Amino acid sequence: MHLRHLTLADFRSYPAVDVALEPGVTTFVGLNGQGKTNLVEAAGYLASLSSHRVSQDGPLVRAGAERAIVRAAVVRDGREQQLELEINPGKANRARLGRAAATRPRDVLGTLRTVLFAPEDLALVKGDPGERRRFLDELLVARQPRWSAARSDYDKIVKQRNALLKSAMPLLRKGSRRRNSDVDVYSELASALHTLEVWDSHLATVGGSLVYARLRLLRDLSPYLEQAYDEVSAGRSQARATYRSSLHEPVAARIAAGEVPEQEEIVAAMHESFAQVRTQEVERGVTLVGPHRDDVVLQLGDLPAKGYASHGESWSFALGLRLASFQLLRTDLGTDPVLVLDDVFAELDAGRRERLAALVADAEQVLITAAVADDVPEALTGRRFEVELGKVAACPD
Ligand SMILES: Nc1ncnc2c1ncn2[C@@H]1O[C@H](COP(=O)(O)OP(=O)(O)OP(=O)(O)O)[C@@H](O)[C@H]1O
Ligand SMILES: [Mg+2]
Repeated sequence: MHLRHLTLADFRSYPAVDVALEPGVTTFVGLNGQGKTNLVEAAGYLASLSSHRVSQDGPLVRAGAERAIVRAAVVRDGREQQLELEINPGKANRARLGRAAATRPRDVLGTLRTVLFAPEDLALVKGDPGERRRFLDELLVARQPRWSAARSDYDKIVKQRNALLKSAMPLLRKGSRRRNSDVDVYSELASALHTLEVWDSHLATVGGSLVYARLRLLRDLSPYLEQAYDEVSAGRSQARATYRSSLHEPVAARIAAGEVPEQEEIVAAMHESFAQVRTQEVERGVTLVGPHRDDVVLQLGDLPAKGYASHGESWSFALGLRLASFQLLRTDLGTDPVLVLDDVFAELDAGRRERLAALVADAEQVLITAAVADDVPEALTGRRFEVELGKVAACPD
């Protein structure tokens, strides 16, 4: 698929801009801070309903404006659809597909698919487990949008279960101080623990299916990751990603070894794991088992990437994860997602630049940003826009 138009109103630094796009490679060139990333961030937002730079919508709206609008014409298999999002920080966002009435943004997920690489992706390798969980879950949603709802259900269940654990804490303390004298405390505690068991079931069911989906995703992604890293780095070492699960030991070890247990088995293991950590959970007031506690271990050869890989290797690893995502979605969807490469070339050595250029040259649409035009290999320049102070102007060929 590709974008034929990208139109912004009060998005980031743009009061209003309309960029006509074509399939193939398009490069946005301009000095720092001129609005290159803002453009491609908008495209990514249309596809994922989130920004790769901020977790809240506030900064996406131009300072002084109330709402932002991002609109695009998305072409897939020759069919064009108008996709529009209205970003209202602090209020519900709205989406519109074609002439249909406005709906919830979640309903339009899947219309546009993008794979976006940006300097922030270095955190996939160097950052906290949360970065890697988000990577997996976002790819899950890009592959199958229905995971968006399951993902937010899961977050809600964890929040409610944590609240319950916290409320059980003082009861437990009171209970142990007063011994058997206070029947009320005990019955309250018993009822809290009973409710906790109900939440355990919810959490194991929803969380277990999420873990199962992540494991299958990682299994499908792995060969593409190995190949992409190999191609970018010219076979320097093997890139691997394995899942680190918070489930109890025999199951966690099997998962770490690359096995994907059946979903029912994961759900059952999660239940058992809750029982094992019950005391700690009540003491600390947090849920200690589940997909929100898991991680993905990234390795280059025999060493973990985190803490060992060089800057360029880490960059290439993050890039490998995105290129692998692109290949996986291309295979799954039968159409190419729009590939966005924000500032990718400046950090790569000459060999890696050329090899990356060769790798992405056949994608249906590639949007590239660069502060220095010469950093982009000649083979990949394609159509070029100059971005200056929020003005986007096509360069003559
Ligand atoms: N909500 C906003 N309202 C107004 N201006 C904003 C808003 N958010 C960001 N900006 C401005 O947009 C500019 C950053 O744009 P962007 O990140 O696209 O730059 P860039 O061209 O990609 O630069 P670089 O080459 O450094 O990556 C900054 O000057 C910033 O102040
Ligand atoms: Mg930028």
